[in-house]
Amino acid sequence: MYVCICNAVSEKDVHSCVAAGACSTRQVKQACGWKPGCGSCTARLAEVIGRAQAPDSAGVAEAPAA
Ligand code: FES
Repeated sequence: MYVCICNAVSEKDVHSCVAAGACSTRQVKQACGWKPGCGSCTARLAEVIGRAQAPDSAGVAEAPAA
């Protein structure tokens, strides 16, 4: 799924940037070659970065235990 439509950046791209050491929206944008766009993706980007930084994150949400 795309995080940023304007730059065609996917969640996978963001996870790759975080794995390579980017840890803020600014660093991820630089690493992904983000160009200025509409800006509507910033909150979503922060959310995806947070998930990517979670210790048990594999980029996939897990179902709660029953
Ligand atoms: S959706 Fe990311 S800049 Fe427009």
